[in-house]
Amino acid sequence: MKSSHPTVGEAAAAIGHRHDRLLERVRALSGALLDAVEAGDTVTAHDEKANLVSWCEDELIPHLVAEEGPLYGGAHATAEAGLLVEGLLQEHQTLVGLVDELRRVDGGARPAALGLVIARVLALHIGKEERLLLPFIAASPGLSLAEAVGTLEDVTEA
Ligand SMILES: [Fe+2]
Ligand SMILES: [Fe+2]
Repeated sequence: MKSSHPTVGEAAAAIGHRHDRLLERVRALSGALLDAVEAGDTVTAHDEKANLVSWCEDELIPHLVAEEGPLYGGAHATAEAGLLVEGLLQEHQTLVGLVDELRRVDGGARPAALGLVIARVLALHIGKEERLLLPFIAASPGLSLAEAVGTLEDVTEA
C-alpha cells in the first residue's frame, strides 16, 4: 500500500491479502509437520515443529499484537462491536496459548495436533475479522478502516 490515504477498498484488500498469506503459510507448515509425524520421521517432525514455532513467533503473533492497536481499539469502544472485539481478543489469547503449548511439546502426535488446531482457530478468527469486524468499521462513520489498517505494519509492508 503505497498511498498514505488508501481507500476503504484498498485497506480491506490489503488486510485480506495479508490474511490469505498467513493462512497459506500456517496450512503449509502444519501440513508438513503432520506429514512427517504420519511418516514416522521424527527428525523431520522435530524440524517442522521448529519451523512452525518460528513462523508463529515472527509472523503470526506480531500480526495479532498489531491488530490490538487502532484496528481493534476503535470498534472495541463502540456499543455495537464491543463484545465482538472481546471475543476476537480471547481468540488472540487462545492462539498465543496454543503457540506456547506447541513450543513445549516434542515428539509423538501432539505437535501435529496442535499445528492443526492453530491453523483451524486462525481460519475461524480471520473469517470473523473479515466478515464481521472489517465491514463494521468500514460502515461506521466515526471509524476509519483505512487509518486503522495503515497502522498494521505487517500489512502495509507486505
Ligand atoms: Fe486478529
Ligand atoms: Fe487478522
